[in-house]
Amino acid sequence: MRLALAVNRSNAYHPTAGAPDDEYEEFDSPETVQAIADTVSGFGHQVGILEADASFPAALAAGKFEFVFNISEGLKGRAREAQVPAVCDMLGIPFTGSDAVTMGLTLDKDLARRAVAGPEVRVAPGRVFAHPDRIDLRGLRFPVFAKPNAEGSSKGIRNSSRLTSEAEARSRIASLIREYRGPVLVEEFLAGAECTVGVLGNRQPRVIGIMEIAPRQKKVEEFVYSLETKRDYLNQVEYHVPPRFPKETVAAIEKTVLAAYEALGCRDFARVDIRLDGAGVPHFIEANPLPGLSPVKGDLVILSKAAGMEYRELIGRILDLAFVRTGVAKTRNYSEAFV
Ligand SMILES: Nc1ncnc2c1ncn2[C@@H]1O[C@H](COP(=O)(O)OP(=O)(O)OP(=O)(O)O)[C@@H](O)[C@H]1O
Ligand SMILES: [Mg+2]
Repeated sequence: MRLALAVNRSNAYHPTAGAPDDEYEEFDSPETVQAIADTVSGFGHQVGILEADASFPAALAAGKFEFVFNISEGLKGRAREAQVPAVCDMLGIPFTGSDAVTMGLTLDKDLARRAVAGPEVRVAPGRVFAHPDRIDLRGLRFPVFAKPNAEGSSKGIRNSSRLTSEAEARSRIASLIREYRGPVLVEEFLAGAECTVGVLGNRQPRVIGIMEIAPRQKKVEEFVYSLETKRDYLNQVEYHVPPRFPKETVAAIEKTVLAAYEALGCRDFARVDIRLDGAGVPHFIEANPLPGLSPVKGDLVILSKAAGMEYRELIGRILDLAFVRTGVAKTRNYSEAFV
């Protein structure tokens, strides 16, 4: 099959003057793109790598591609992750992963919270602020956590995002609104253990692994899986698959994650971030329908491997799920067990 890999490569763009140094943190390295391209070619497909910029729609149509493997984060705005799915749907070309609505919904963390919140999925009490001069923190219990409402890959998330006083919170929220040019979500800080959860599937989605992310030095109640931490993950955190949680907690996490996956309309695969509160109750932090697929650093890749699924199988299953869902291909690389 002729298959396009839709990407935004971190080396394809020049930094904008005055922008934060994590401006292109979401984009993929050339090594990640090559690893996916090689893996997909290994299944017998002809792979073309397309940069998901303004040239994408014409290149996709001109290349006579029959299918798209989408890892593109998109260029601008809250709907950026929806750009490639929307173009593919417009051109009638099937693609891996979630559609434009789910991409938009999950990139806006507050909309995602509202979509999932209910008896099966808990979210931390929180509020969104769009104007530096209209910050009202009444009713929120400290410490709180402030993050750009529509960013990913830890953009704007630092160890200092955990805020213990109202004065500190006001100044941080105001600077985040300015620096990241958009609303800021403030949530009560969830002081328990953290984990990230891999899900594969459509009709019967399954949790493929839960990875506890534990600080090596810090106390759990002060730990943030921040940009600094992720850039130095080998020294700062240890991963545990399976997590060191009681059985009931693991069951509650699985229930929460699958309910969130369904409520958000995720397709094929996603990674959902969960944190326990001080009492050990799992709360939804966010869902990533475009989880990083770096063969070295991707959390979904690390947790899949630890749960017994090698890179080739993970990529193969994502493709299989998309093929079966869209009915385009008869050949499958892996069993239908995850469909
Ligand atoms: N309410 C909260 N309480 C405690 N910690 C939080 C809270 N919200 C976020 N965090 C911390 O900040 C980290 C990043 O938050 P979040 O997952 O929302 O951002 P992200 O940049 O989209 O992440 P990713 O890199 O997974 O795309 C979490 O992994 C967690 O450590
Ligand atoms: Mg996250």
